[in-house]
Amino acid sequence: MKLADNKATLSFSNGSPSVEMPVYQGNIGPDVIDIRKLYAQTGMFTYDPGFLSTASCQSGITYIDGDKGELLYRGYPIEQLATNVDYLDTCHLLLKGELPNATERVDFHKLVTNHTMVNEQMQFFLRGFRRDAHPMAVLTGLVGALSAFYHDSTDINNPEHREIAAIRLIAKMPTLVAMAYKYGVGQPFMYPQNDLSYSGNFLRMMFGTPCEEYKVNSVIERAMDRIFILHADHEQNASTSTVRLCGSSGTNPFAAIAAGVACLWGPAHGGANEACLNMLEDIQRQGGVSKVGQFMEQVKDKNSGVKLMGFGHRVYKNYDPRAKLMQETCNEVLEALGLENDPLFKLAKQLEKIALEDDYFVQRKLYPNVDFYSGIVQRAIGIPVNLFTGIFALARTVGWIAQLNEMIGDPEYKIGRPRQLFTGSVKRDVKPLDQR
Ligand code: ACO
Repeated sequence: MKLADNKATLSFSNGSPSVEMPVYQGNIGPDVIDIRKLYAQTGMFTYDPGFLSTASCQSGITYIDGDKGELLYRGYPIEQLATNVDYLDTCHLLLKGELPNATERVDFHKLVTNHTMVNEQMQFFLRGFRRDAHPMAVLTGLVGALSAFYHDSTDINNPEHREIAAIRLIAKMPTLVAMAYKYGVGQPFMYPQNDLSYSGNFLRMMFGTPCEEYKVNSVIERAMDRIFILHADHEQNASTSTVRLCGSSGTNPFAAIAAGVACLWGPAHGGANEACLNMLEDIQRQGGVSKVGQFMEQVKDKNSGVKLMGFGHRVYKNYDPRAKLMQETCNEVLEALGLENDPLFKLAKQLEKIALEDDYFVQRKLYPNVDFYSGIVQRAIGIPVNLFTGIFALARTVGWIAQLNEMIGDPEYKIGRPRQLFTGSVKRDVKPLDQR
């Protein structure tokens, strides 16, 4: 960390001595005030629920400029990555800091490919779930259970264990997601086929059956790969912070990533694409485009509790750059599948148009996020709505593991232990039952 020339001074109106705090500069983005000694010096904590003004770590992986609508992985704009490299190249970049050269690329693709199979015993574990279990419930369990199957990569303090756990997680997530899906629909599990690309293999494990050869559609393969790239990492979001906090206790990588999967499930985070598609289907059922105006009135009414899902973002206060790329992919996929007149896509475009022109959204800087279009693409591909968040988890696994490994390698890393402002009862005595 680079010290800035200036310092911050905190003064108090009650005459307590003021405190000076160092300021650090990042390579881009806001500076941070180092408050680590604040408690020792003043006996006070800072208060910041939701981390609105708190940098929880230093990181060199992903950078977002929410006002510009810019997303960089290791310095590379998401637009360039989404058009020039594939998901496994992106994984190499996020994990190791650089895009692979030609030899590294072959080696890395081969390495991941060699780990796509899961321990055969995992399917018996999976069979313990109800067939109608939500795939995210199943995935939380399966990912956590990996630590029971791969004992040789559970020591978070061993760099070799961390490396192999990272590769295993990236390689096995598509297999697990596809297994969760096949189990729900009652079809046989498909083993990975390693001469296919990462996305092609995933599509085959999802939609292939042992009865006939599965031909990968190149437009869908590219779309899937783009969905993976766009969701690969996103700085210190809720699930990534969960993974870091969970991993900070020294727990094994599989357990920490399972915590990330659980966090991602929430509708304010990864569950938004599922919620968004359900919302579009609801409006469609009620009359489609003609009901958009009425729906928007509900969204703007604070008492209705209705939100326009797929809109708004904690960090992007300009267009989410991933949403633009996703809209492009949406057009490509719908055209390739002859679904250009898909009513949900039309409805989404209409909602977006109205929202972008409406004062409520303009004033609050609410724009479509990546989930606004990703649901339509996935639905067109044939992915069931309740698996959308599972696809997101698959893609984000590399981000989680890269951030976890970065944290463990950081000399300043400590177990995460936030403090609190206590507002409960002060000390009191337990009274006998007849006096309570
Ligand atoms: N629809 C309607 N109003 C909204 C929406 C929305 N989608 N999002 C925010 N607002 C309003 C809020 O009601 C609030 O209004 P107010 O100032 O009058 O009270 C204002 O905009 C600011 O919203 P906050 O909730 O304070 O913004 P925050 O940064 O905390 O929330 C969040 C961001 C959770 C993403 C929110 O915009 C939301 O719930 N969106 C819908 C869910 C969604 O799409 N999530 C996906 C996030 S991206 C991802 O995980 C990949």
